[in-house]
Amino acid sequence: MADRVVLAYSGGLDTSVGIGWLRDATGKDVVALAVDVGQDGEDLDAVRQRALDCGAVESIVVDAKDEFADDYLVPALKANALYQKRYPLVSALSRPLIAKHLALTARQLGADSVAHGCTGKGNDQVRFEAAVAAIAPDLTSVAPVRDLALTRDEAIAYAQQHDLPIEQSERSPYSIDQNVWGRAVETGFLEDPWNAPTEDLYAYTQDPTVPREPDEVTITFEQGVPVAIDGQRFSVLRVVQELNALAGKHGVGRIDVVEDRLVGIKSREVYEAPAAIALIAAHEELESLTLERDVRRYKRNVESEWADLVYDGLWFGGLKRSLDAFVDHTQLHVSGDVRLRLHGGRAVVTGRRSSQSLYDFDLATYDSGDTFDQSQAKGFIDIWSLPSRISARRDQAN
Ligand code: ARG
Repeated sequence: MADRVVLAYSGGLDTSVGIGWLRDATGKDVVALAVDVGQDGEDLDAVRQRALDCGAVESIVVDAKDEFADDYLVPALKANALYQKRYPLVSALSRPLIAKHLALTARQLGADSVAHGCTGKGNDQVRFEAAVAAIAPDLTSVAPVRDLALTRDEAIAYAQQHDLPIEQSERSPYSIDQNVWGRAVETGFLEDPWNAPTEDLYAYTQDPTVPREPDEVTITFEQGVPVAIDGQRFSVLRVVQELNALAGKHGVGRIDVVEDRLVGIKSREVYEAPAAIALIAAHEELESLTLERDVRRYKRNVESEWADLVYDGLWFGGLKRSLDAFVDHTQLHVSGDVRLRLHGGRAVVTGRRSSQSLYDFDLATYDSGDTFDQSQAKGFIDIWSLPSRISARRDQAN
């Protein structure tokens, strides 16, 4: 039996063409693996069959939607993860999961290598290979599109020559990656960062400028995990799916940015992530009610480090895992309800409550019943400002 290579297969042009190229270049049998992370759109049975039609010896589809939600989206939400304060790490979160299934499948089938269809210019190649290295250090990663320096035109020519079943839509000018956490669109006319996105780019969100009535939604969290919408309990996956529909209808979560890739390139990216943006807003708000001031302040730094690590492909790295332990510990009391108003492209918090709340009405009120002893404030300020007073005396004496 020939050696085998397991290819992360999307059904798109590059990975379809990659099957034949891989076989010719390596002499190995190609096993196609499609991982369902809630990308919707395409029928995965059709994707499975296409891999066989393109020459794969075996074609596997794994439903990893719940695993993605529970083990990847939940940690991201607990960390309020936004790369460069804007991007909810849509593709960055799915790559380590896909890589994990690649490595597991390679082990099961006795394959000695794995492959992906990334080019040499993006982050995803790094994320795949760094994750595989961390899970199965003995496996080799192959990247036909990158390593053979194939252009898109060459890929299309190859598909035509070999009569591969590539859909017309695959020849669209955009590079799109999507999963249940959101959707990324790049290339085409978006490569000029001055060009405004057009309505046809979006699939998860409706035009927020169209007038419609606002909707209200209440999200319940237990220890940082979203568990119910309007009192109805759902799996995390369902919560995310429901919120994509609810918030997507109001155009929530459209993001247009110039982003710094790990490989040094600045790129213009358009994202839509309605559930992610609504959930992060709600979760962060519940933390404001339930976490101490210094924990919130310290956590903000951890969050930005966490997002950078995950963006940079170090999901399975030691630092990321240690930060997860910190973040998890902060979530002990992050339980309660947050009410959001969805309207005009925004998810705005209008209420929050928690049995674990640190908000003390009697301390906060300016009405009678105030329990805060204002006479203590004077002494507090004297001591608080003591270092400033002493140094100011020194400076003025000089
Ligand atoms: N720029 C984003 C990231 O690095 C999105 C990448 C989308 N991937 C793709 N193959 N189109 O996470």
